[in-house]
Amino acid sequence: MSVPELTDVHPAWLPPEAFRAVGTRRTLVCGDGPLVRTALAEVTQACRRYGGAVRHLPAATGDVVAAAVAAGDGPSDLVLALSGTGPADGDGFLLARAAGVTLVSADDPAGLLHGLFHVVRLGASAFGADRPAEQHRSAMRRRMVNHWDNVVAHPVMGQVERGYSGGSLFWQDGTLRTDLTRVTAYARLLASCGINAVSVNNVNVHATEASLLTDRLGDVAAIAARFRPYGIRVHLSVSFAAPVTLGGLSTADPHDAQVRAWWARITARVYETIPDFGGYVVKADSEGQPGPFAYGRSHADGANVLADALAPFGGVVDWRAFVYNHHQDWRDRSTDRARAAHDHFAPLDGEFRDNVHLQVKHGPIDFQTREPVSPVFAAMPATRIAVELQVTQEYTGQQRHVCYLAPMWSEVLGFDPWDGEGPSVADVAAVGGGLVAVSNAGADRFWTGHPLAQANLYAFGRLAWSPWLDPATILDEWIDLTFVPSATADPELLRRTLHALMDHSWQTYEQYTAPLGIGFMVRPGDHYGPDVDGYEYSPWGTYHFADRDGIGVDRTQASGTGFTGQYPPGWAAAYESLDRCPDELLLFFHHVPYDHVLHSGVTVIQHIYDTHFAGVEAVAEAQQRWERLPAGLVDPALHTRVAERLDEQLRCAREWRDQINTYFFRKSGVPDACGRRIF
Ligand code: GCU
Repeated sequence: MSVPELTDVHPAWLPPEAFRAVGTRRTLVCGDGPLVRTALAEVTQACRRYGGAVRHLPAATGDVVAAAVAAGDGPSDLVLALSGTGPADGDGFLLARAAGVTLVSADDPAGLLHGLFHVVRLGASAFGADRPAEQHRSAMRRRMVNHWDNVVAHPVMGQVERGYSGGSLFWQDGTLRTDLTRVTAYARLLASCGINAVSVNNVNVHATEASLLTDRLGDVAAIAARFRPYGIRVHLSVSFAAPVTLGGLSTADPHDAQVRAWWARITARVYETIPDFGGYVVKADSEGQPGPFAYGRSHADGANVLADALAPFGGVVDWRAFVYNHHQDWRDRSTDRARAAHDHFAPLDGEFRDNVHLQVKHGPIDFQTREPVSPVFAAMPATRIAVELQVTQEYTGQQRHVCYLAPMWSEVLGFDPWDGEGPSVADVAAVGGGLVAVSNAGADRFWTGHPLAQANLYAFGRLAWSPWLDPATILDEWIDLTFVPSATADPELLRRTLHALMDHSWQTYEQYTAPLGIGFMVRPGDHYGPDVDGYEYSPWGTYHFADRDGIGVDRTQASGTGFTGQYPPGWAAAYESLDRCPDELLLFFHHVPYDHVLHSGVTVIQHIYDTHFAGVEAVAEAQQRWERLPAGLVDPALHTRVAERLDEQLRCAREWRDQINTYFFRKSGVPDACGRRIF
């Protein structure tokens, strides 16, 4: 096991300097096994660079550790010990410091690795004052990223569907990349922020990708071999129709004995090849993907046949709840896409096998900048639910705009559907399938296109480990790791600048795009930039219903689609009520006249004008702040990349402002109270 050093790729949040505190000290690693050897390799590399020393006692137990610390061949500053003294369950660790020794101990080797990365995060402060023993446990057992990567570049969606970071880390021009060193570097980044599962192909499974399950399984095994040393299990998106398309059967009916046998046989082969394989991700009956509806079966029937095949090996099915009618007639006002996941899945509560995770997008529609939290999280207490986020910024600026998403995710995870009388969204994920996100990483030299978008991937991992962490604190962690203060000329200026650019960037993005929770208004197809009516007369079910009098979707029970009734009583009543509905979601739940007065005291139309002007000003200010940074404070290539993206963000924000303001001025005829320029 050796730690990759890539010269032409940005080190993201693991630059060599981040390891200085460990690398200058004496470390004792106790225990053995692949993950312990990974920790050993990390420390060894750091020591080689910074002059520290490392010893390894392969057969350590708690007592041997104590003995080694007290009487070994020289004292240690850091002891990483696989022993019986860590947290009894999960992949957490115990951290303590006394008598000049920092001790990390864990029962599970993955815990030891997490403990080491935690010490890296703490830097020199891990070796300062004494610390009473702290238990670090992950809130979610499963912390997963989904790649929407295609093996063969799709004619419309490209190599990575909704990818904004160059090519795929795994696939290129129809085959597995020949050099997978970068995958090891990626595994390292993911593990260091707590991620422990990854799916390696698009949920839209095209023909070549379907065969990853069979003919191309060797490719998956090669990728798994890169993730394994970092404690990350590999999963595969599979096609529900695989028994037909790959197996030559006449049906994929989950009740058919041959179909069940086929899944069992194929799955056994997968485990022969990849013994620690994680499981299947399935998008069924969604946006053209095949599913159980074709056979008159339920999604529980569909998921369970795969679950039964995986169960003997400890694998799981991530069955996506993103099922809706994408052939809607825009004239039909009774169908509401927001209702779809709850309508389809809530009646199936209790019918899924234990090794099925129902993977539910955080909002009822589709990763919009602002949506209410999905009512499904409160509707299926007898189902293991995984909460799905989108780290790739499909609808939040496509990594050309700065949009730090941790504040949004924090709100989602902290949402309390039962008003204190039941589990929060984070609790639901913790007892269920954990947290899952669509990855934003790719072959780009900064990993994420926009270098500052790295923080979103980092923050996702950290929130999956500790959902209650403060987004600003996570950002500080990311800043200190990425731009190590001891190697930065003016770390405080940089920190202030990055916080100014990023802390409120999600709200800024919201300000200059679709207003008050209405969503979309993006260009159809690529979803970048404004097109107010782009989806208004389309079959996709995402409408705003603006006319000369007002705007918004009536989702009330009293007069609308009844979507509010999918929430537990407290929130159902709040969203139903025009008076109590939060401003930021007003147009998601209600159709209102332009002169409707918000809780903020301004009318809807004036709010639209004000926020669009304010949003652009905030971007202009961010751009100037970045320009003012002294030369050389950050890597010049990174500075240039961010500067270019800020230019584009400003251009695009102005376009949004002018199209939205002009559209609503023309619709409503109401002038801006401040007399600003509208076209
Ligand atoms: C969005 C996205 C698609 C993706 C889908 C999904 O609709 O635009 O590209 O396939 O989500 O989550 O499956």
